[in-house]
Amino acid sequence: MSTEIKQVQQIKFHIQDKEYTVNVDDVSPTTSLNSYIRDTLQLTGTKGVCFEGGCGACTVVLYMHDPNTEKNIYLAVNSCLIPLLSCNGWTIYTIEGIGDPLNGYHVVQETLATFNGTQCGMCSPGMVMNMYALYESGKLTMKDVENSFGGSICRCTGYRPILSAFKSLCTDVSPEILGHYPDIEDLKICKKDKCEKKCTTKCDKRGKEPFYLQMAAAQWIKVFSLSDLLSALSTSGGATYKLVAGNTAMGVFSSYRASVDIYIDVTSVPELKVSEFVGETYVLGANTTLTTAMDVFNEVGAENPQFSYFIELANHIDLIANVPVRNTGTIAGNLIMKHDNHDFPSDIYLILETVGAKLTIVGVDGQEAQLSPEEFISQDMNLKVLKTITFPSYLMDNVKFVSYKIMPRAQNTHANVNAGFLFQFNINGTLDSATIVYGNINPTFTHATATETLLAGKDLFDDNVLQQALTSLSSELICDVIPPDPSPDYRKQLAMALFYKTVLAIAPADKLSPKNQSGGAMLERPISTGVQDYETNASLYPLTQAIPKIEALAQTSGQAQYVSDLPDSPHQLFGTLILADAPPNSTLKSIDASKALEVEGVVAFYSKDDIPGDNNFTPLELFFQQAEEIFCSGRVHYHHQPIGILVGESEAILRTASSLVEATYDPPTVGPLLSIRQVLQADRTDRIQEIRTIEPTRKGTDITHVVKGTFDIYHQYHFHLEQQCCSVVPNENGMDIFPSTQWMDQIQIAVAKMLQIPNNKIQVSVRRLGGGFGAKISRNGLVSCATALAAWKLRRPVKVNLSFSDNVQAIGKRFPFSSDYEVGLNDQGVIQYLTCTHYSDLGASINEIPYGEILNDFLGSYVNDTFEIHMKVAVTDTHNNTWARAPGSTEGVGSIEAIMEHCAVELGMDPIELKKANFQQTPISTYIDELKTWADIDTRKADIETFNQENRWKKKGLAVVNMTYNLGASGPFSVMVSIFHGDGTVQISHGGIEMGQGINTKAAQVCAYKFGIDLNFVAVLPSNSFTCPNNVVTGGSVTSEAVCYGVIQACDQLIARIQPYKDKNPNGTWPDWITACHEDFVNLAAIGMFSPKEPNVNEYPIYGVCACEVIIDILTGQHIVNRVDLLEDVGRSMSPLVDIGQVEGAFIMGLGYYTTEEIVYNYEGKILTDRTWNYRPPGAKDIPVDFRVQLKKNNPNPVGVLYSKATAEPPLCLSIVVPLAIRNALASARLDAASTNAKWFPIDGPTTIEKVFVNSLNDYKQYVL
Ligand SMILES: Cc1cc2nc3c(=O)[nH]c(=O)nc-3n(C[C@H](O)[C@H](O)[C@H](O)COP(=O)(O)OP(=O)(O)OC[C@H]3O[C@@H](n4cnc5c(N)ncnc54)[C@H](O)[C@@H]3O)c2cc1C
Ligand code: FES
Ligand code: FES
Repeated sequence: MSTEIKQVQQIKFHIQDKEYTVNVDDVSPTTSLNSYIRDTLQLTGTKGVCFEGGCGACTVVLYMHDPNTEKNIYLAVNSCLIPLLSCNGWTIYTIEGIGDPLNGYHVVQETLATFNGTQCGMCSPGMVMNMYALYESGKLTMKDVENSFGGSICRCTGYRPILSAFKSLCTDVSPEILGHYPDIEDLKICKKDKCEKKCTTKCDKRGKEPFYLQMAAAQWIKVFSLSDLLSALSTSGGATYKLVAGNTAMGVFSSYRASVDIYIDVTSVPELKVSEFVGETYVLGANTTLTTAMDVFNEVGAENPQFSYFIELANHIDLIANVPVRNTGTIAGNLIMKHDNHDFPSDIYLILETVGAKLTIVGVDGQEAQLSPEEFISQDMNLKVLKTITFPSYLMDNVKFVSYKIMPRAQNTHANVNAGFLFQFNINGTLDSATIVYGNINPTFTHATATETLLAGKDLFDDNVLQQALTSLSSELICDVIPPDPSPDYRKQLAMALFYKTVLAIAPADKLSPKNQSGGAMLERPISTGVQDYETNASLYPLTQAIPKIEALAQTSGQAQYVSDLPDSPHQLFGTLILADAPPNSTLKSIDASKALEVEGVVAFYSKDDIPGDNNFTPLELFFQQAEEIFCSGRVHYHHQPIGILVGESEAILRTASSLVEATYDPPTVGPLLSIRQVLQADRTDRIQEIRTIEPTRKGTDITHVVKGTFDIYHQYHFHLEQQCCSVVPNENGMDIFPSTQWMDQIQIAVAKMLQIPNNKIQVSVRRLGGGFGAKISRNGLVSCATALAAWKLRRPVKVNLSFSDNVQAIGKRFPFSSDYEVGLNDQGVIQYLTCTHYSDLGASINEIPYGEILNDFLGSYVNDTFEIHMKVAVTDTHNNTWARAPGSTEGVGSIEAIMEHCAVELGMDPIELKKANFQQTPISTYIDELKTWADIDTRKADIETFNQENRWKKKGLAVVNMTYNLGASGPFSVMVSIFHGDGTVQISHGGIEMGQGINTKAAQVCAYKFGIDLNFVAVLPSNSFTCPNNVVTGGSVTSEAVCYGVIQACDQLIARIQPYKDKNPNGTWPDWITACHEDFVNLAAIGMFSPKEPNVNEYPIYGVCACEVIIDILTGQHIVNRVDLLEDVGRSMSPLVDIGQVEGAFIMGLGYYTTEEIVYNYEGKILTDRTWNYRPPGAKDIPVDFRVQLKKNNPNPVGVLYSKATAEPPLCLSIVVPLAIRNALASARLDAASTNAKWFPIDGPTTIEKVFVNSLNDYKQYVL
């Protein structure tokens, strides 16, 4: 019987220990918890980045009572997906609520800071909250930690220090993890009042009475029973409605964001959450969350043999999404997504269909029906509720169930192909029945029906039957074309390989050839570890001291502010860029914003016609070659080029209104050219320019081998968690600009020229960036100019924060690069000549050109007087490409190392020996020798050889690469140091931009060292254009050193001024001397500056070597990076932990570039990979299992600042070692496939799992027992 549903006017919930009431008039059903926390409460420690459950930056913790277990539980959830109205009666903790400087930090916050687990810090609050929930939930193992961060993306650190930090809090922590921090144990002692939540007063005090809220455009109904739910549905008339469970489906499909008339919150309906045995079956409520389902499956599966297959189900669900999504997302929600979108590769649908589960559906009349998942997806579900899932029991002795999800990275992404197999055997060992289910084949495909029929009654473990089944699969698996997902052919071959894998997995061992046996298992990843080997010099402390970053605790406690966290100013507006939805080379004819302007809260629209000065954000007086438009003025240079800015009172209003801006275009007469190879193929010589040619000075004559090849790498999205953004506040003088830029000077000049106002009317300030990686060198100019235009026109503060997709679509990426090479060598591998043409893809205009870096680092390690190099640039119809961490050097080192490896493969030589035969007389060979010993290369190579001989479907590979990175000097960088007479403390302001690379920490260490004072005496202020005018871009790795140089200069001036007072009072203290100076009117502020013209500023080489070992699964294409040993030259490190962090982070960014990160365009030049759902930087389980980093010891740099060398970018270049190791592993598989196969295949973009699979040259005809 249904209860009366009462109207209420408000909801109540707790955030931290405070109760909040939200009135019906102040909220809409689409208001998210994230928006309330950040925008209304201004608790900006919680971040918002992707708004689709894909990054973890918005994680908060729900503290609730679990009625099933009667326990209070902590659940990490994505606040960006939770509707605020769902929170009625809940208790939520944000990063601010678990620890702060006033009340003390939580152990998780402290530990992450201590382990140096923060760089830009943008991911840190999300990481902390995810860990907080795990930690407070009770006993935690290192395996739990390792497995639980798939949904938390960190672009800076490479995850190792984050995982080490959190593992240090586990019950089974090992001494290696505690490493330098044995004292961390002390932190774990709970300070009672902080750790224990006073749940009794708040938790579960929600009433159980249904209620509804009536808002202007919609109704929100909360029900507590199935009958109430059905009654609410039955009275809905023809209204549109949505059941709100976890509300996570909108993270995958935007269709679930659409507004409806009625929202029914089903999170508290007990009938939809049952978990019980019913007769021979087990029944789960359809709105059981995926996390609870895993728990139930593990528990019931372990205790009940007839349900032992449940363990497999739990393991499969572990691969779905990530912890916060699984904590709220439900089985029903997932199945409805499949129901509504047949092309969705739902893992829940797949496994339920495979095991023969039945879905119970109930209509508003109470009528129930039981359907298989396959039957269900074609049912009309209007006014019906998915109630329960019924699982059959099996006599598991006769049944084998296996399922797979083959993903392009280790966690948190959908399947390339997923598959479920359930075989029931009869007493004779032949098959009674076979169930074969695949996902991501095509929208109508579920069962491989013909193969299922064929197999009935057959002996599965017979080579002939196996081939018949594979042939049958080959004809019934018809994969569709679904870019950006992988190609149909690969998906089909993969699906067949999974069938074979299953047979290998379940066949009796005596039926299998020993070589094939390991093919049945999936790759298993042990818990990762790391080594950080460096030296310090205590006599110089705090210089060379291994300290966490000075901002670390501010970052881990959410106190650190980024541009979008700046408090809203009075009368502030927001802006959103309007992007051209038209192919490149279209012509913009007209823009009509009138409909958008009619929307309440929309204030203005501006386009190029509203710009008073230059429509250009790349002023030519800086290093730019060409003007780049702020807003399109006619020809559309690339799909999604900005055409204007819409301004309004909130981001939510703009999200709706922006689609109402109408633009018309004349279509292009030609198709777009999106890559260098397309330009070459089209013979568009007008788009190629040779900008430099290196002629050889000699050519060898001992040519016994000629090696030809190509090397192609493409875009990389920077994936800074803080999107391109800017806040502009007009003032009586002009304006204050707070941009997320790496280059204040560009912003000041570009905005001034755009508005035709003097430079002195503009002040630019940058506290920190939430990651930059080069994308914010010049590209932020576009966003900042647009924001400044709006603020200037309206004389009101304006904030713009690009959405994740707009950022991907509109902003340039790493320069793609192609190279054609030919090398002549003798039998000893000595290069006699090398001819190559390098092409850089600059995008739509010739502006930023990385040729110097490419060339220097291509040539750096090797004797190169026989090299003939043509440096060319290509113009394509994409956004203007731009600097990305180690621009040019990545291409230079990557291509030469790949060429060397290719030559070695062709000559049958050890690549190390071939490279040694060509090295210049530099320290690089010593580095290689040291690495060979340290990493035990020779023994491991021999072991790998044996492993590969013994295994057909698993292969290992090892590669070693080296790098000579030439660091250039740029400038000016200025630094101001002020000493305060009140207590002798010091402030620094510098012209570098802190974006996680640790400039501030190094600057403070150097300053404290120079003055001989405690590090706590030194604070670093935000950078600004007044104290540090005209400063050049922070990039090219040089800035940390440059700022330290400036600090030294300023300190030296001050030391000279203080010295007489020290001499007068040799036994005095620092504060005494400062007081004396002040009383004598000594100027206690000084400015230092770094530039290539300053004394002792030098360019120098940076060396690095790296070995990488991988294991690959030939039947899936997946790999695990087993071990990396990286020896990096940092001179004498000023701050070893900062440098280790830079090395690890850079390497992992490169690992992503070379393995998982792929930008895919459609034929119209539109990027298809513009979401966290399909663009995949590495996650926590993609990093090396064993990651050893050593900073070369006893290695002072005589020409560096305080004997140090730069670190930020160079180690990224070494990541080419990963695809080379994969190629070495694959060489063995290719020869196993046919001894005539070439061992080498060219580098062509990231070595994705598709490329590995395809290039392993396996073919189902080779599949035998
Ligand atoms: C980042 C991310 C990664 C993901 N990765 C994967 C993956 O790899 N594989 C995979 O399979 N899935 C994946 N998912 C999908 C995830 O499993 C679903 O989002 C989740 O299970 C949906 O459940 P929900 O409770 O949040 O549904 P909601 O969003 O609350 O609801 C979705 C739809 O279901 C309807 N609905 C809900 N309950 C019922 C009911 N009882 N009866 C009838 N209709 C109902 C609602 O009306 C709504 O239309 C991913 C999701 C995200 C966000
Ligand atoms: S912002 Fe919520 S997961 Fe990315
Ligand atoms: S520190 Fe993790 S994203 Fe920057």
